[in-house]
Amino acid sequence: MCFRQFGLLRFVIIVASIELVYAQSHADVKRLYTDLFTDYRKEIIPTADQSKPLVVGVTFHIASFNSFNEVDETMSLTAVVDMNWTDPALMWDPTLYGNTNFTTINPKDLWLPQIYLTNTVDPMNPVGHDSKVYPTIGYTGKVFYSHGGILKAKCPTDISKFPFDSQTCTLELMTWGFVQSQLLLSSNFDKAQLGFFDAHSDWNLLEYSTHVVSVSFGYSMFNSKTHL
Ligand SMILES: *[C@@H]1O[C@H](CO)[C@@H](O)[C@H](O)[C@H]1NC(C)=O
Ligand SMILES: *[C@@H]1O[C@H](CO)[C@@H](O)[C@H](O)[C@H]1NC(C)=O
Repeated sequence: MCFRQFGLLRFVIIVASIELVYAQSHADVKRLYTDLFTDYRKEIIPTADQSKPLVVGVTFHIASFNSFNEVDETMSLTAVVDMNWTDPALMWDPTLYGNTNFTTINPKDLWLPQIYLTNTVDPMNPVGHDSKVYPTIGYTGKVFYSHGGILKAKCPTDISKFPFDSQTCTLELMTWGFVQSQLLLSSNFDKAQLGFFDAHSDWNLLEYSTHVVSVSFGYSMFNSKTHL
């Protein structure tokens, strides 16, 4: 009898702990997707008060330094650009969706900020336009979007220090289409992040600062200054 009661208690404890670790099912996430996106308009910048700017945090990672061409005056590097913001239309109560705290979604389904490298030597496309990385959304409306690509910028060559070449190049990334009263960039760090960085045999990165400036025409511009 005593052993049986203990057995029952153990059974109850096991069931209770299964409930505690109960995770989201496919059906929960599908219902969440339906509820969030049925009435969602990805064409509209996601601010509850449209007279206030959406603040987008930017983290710039230098993945590799590819080349510096003194004749063409161009620098090429591979960058990963992380962006984060809050979309008030993408908030939910996790307990109603099997404790789904966050999920990854197709980039074509939500509003995404676009930035352009203004001193590019390639056709003018938004940075990462050909990457299809899935953004992550959290139940508090926080969106995390990581994209990137090869950025090739025009940079005046400094030949004054020849042959001890030392070059500075600033990548200028602008929120074209949205003025800063609508979209404001904010630099998450004052330096480019080098967690993914592969060193280059000919060039040393001496400086790699990042900051946001406000430019003419009222755009917000993210600058990544590289000193080689
Ligand atoms: C972006 O993320 C960073 C790091 O978590 C945070 O400090 C910053 O406030 C976020 N920015 C926005 C605009 O949400
Ligand atoms: C979801 O968020 C809640 C509240 O912040 C937290 O207690 C819980 O551990 C989170 N669950 C997961 C799976 O991250």
